Amino acid sequence: MLEALNPQPQDKILQLIAMFREDKRDGKIDLGVGVYKDATGLTPVMRAVKAAEKKIWEAETTKTYTALAGEPGYNAALSGLILGEGYGDRLASASTPGGTGALRQGFELARLANPDLKVWLSAPTWPNHPSILKFLKIEMAEYRYFDVATSGVDFDAMLADLDGVKEGDLVLLHGCCHNPTGANLTMAQWDQVIALLQAKKAVPMVDLAYQGFGDGLDADAEATRKVAAAFPEVIIAASCSKNFGIYRERAGLVIALSSADRKAVVQANLNFLNRQTYSFPPDHGARIVTTILEDAALTADWKAELEETRLNMLNLRVQLAEELRKASNSDRFDFVAHHRGMFSRLGLSEAQVNRLREEHAVYMVGDSRINIAGLNKDTVPVLAKAIASVL
Ligand code: LMR
Repeated sequence: MLEALNPQPQDKILQLIAMFREDKRDGKIDLGVGVYKDATGLTPVMRAVKAAEKKIWEAETTKTYTALAGEPGYNAALSGLILGEGYGDRLASASTPGGTGALRQGFELARLANPDLKVWLSAPTWPNHPSILKFLKIEMAEYRYFDVATSGVDFDAMLADLDGVKEGDLVLLHGCCHNPTGANLTMAQWDQVIALLQAKKAVPMVDLAYQGFGDGLDADAEATRKVAAAFPEVIIAASCSKNFGIYRERAGLVIALSSADRKAVVQANLNFLNRQTYSFPPDHGARIVTTILEDAALTADWKAELEETRLNMLNLRVQLAEELRKASNSDRFDFVAHHRGMFSRLGLSEAQVNRLREEHAVYMVGDSRINIAGLNKDTVPVLAKAIASVL
């Protein structure tokens, strides 16, 4: 039977991890996978996470099953961090293995409700979005998002394409820190997108994987909160991988807002989906997050370290834009300082990306997405010169 299996395409982002590891050159620079690294190249365990793990280890008396949708305390604390208060009577949620698990359960939930579901994705988007949808055999459509000429959002094109959305379609939006481009909507533009999708009777789904990496914890949730307040039904897929730095623990949350009288049925469907997929969600990462968010001192320390992380990335953006201005003798890369989050799409060709890897040991995704956090103050000028040399 298994001889009938076909090879599967490798994930382009994950492929880079292995290629980088095998490269023996000194001074190689990894701007591939979206993992935060400090100036020494380490992905640190955050202080509050360490402290929370110690607390958990001391207090934990059992490893018996948790609840099917995860610990209620986790779901409440994380949905509070995202949405604030006031959704209790409309909010169903399930703890998931990471943001990918949340996306998967969110798509599955929507399809249970609408077997003819169509999902709209930004072009471009995180490559795993279309990959999961294709695997689930869910129909997809794209809306233009990125303007290659300005490296900003092509807002007119976005609205023009979203005009084709039909009632009951699911429209996936990046809540903040758009992956892979780094270009984001202004709040005024969010208002326009919301008005259009309301008129179309679409259901918005927000992917929120980078809260705290763009303009701050609350600022990065502002668009998601606007969406939550504006629609009768909303799906949110959230990840704690980045903002708590607990990538391998797989802590995510899928939230589904509906009317108060539908909430119990929606919750039952989320429970059912967890049971069919993996029964109980992993607990350790979720417990770390809950322990931090339920303790004022740990929360304060976590927020302080997250803010440091965010500002490090912002400083690197400003420095890289300056160095690219010098090295390229032009302002064509000034957008790097205006983008937000871990990523920027530089607008280089695949051939230029390959030359950067082959000639300069600089690794970035084939569409020229860089992870800003892969840099430090010493490698920024090295990268700028390398880029200038392939222009
Ligand atoms: C990325 O886009 O690099 C991250 O979200 C990691 C991943 O799983 O692809």
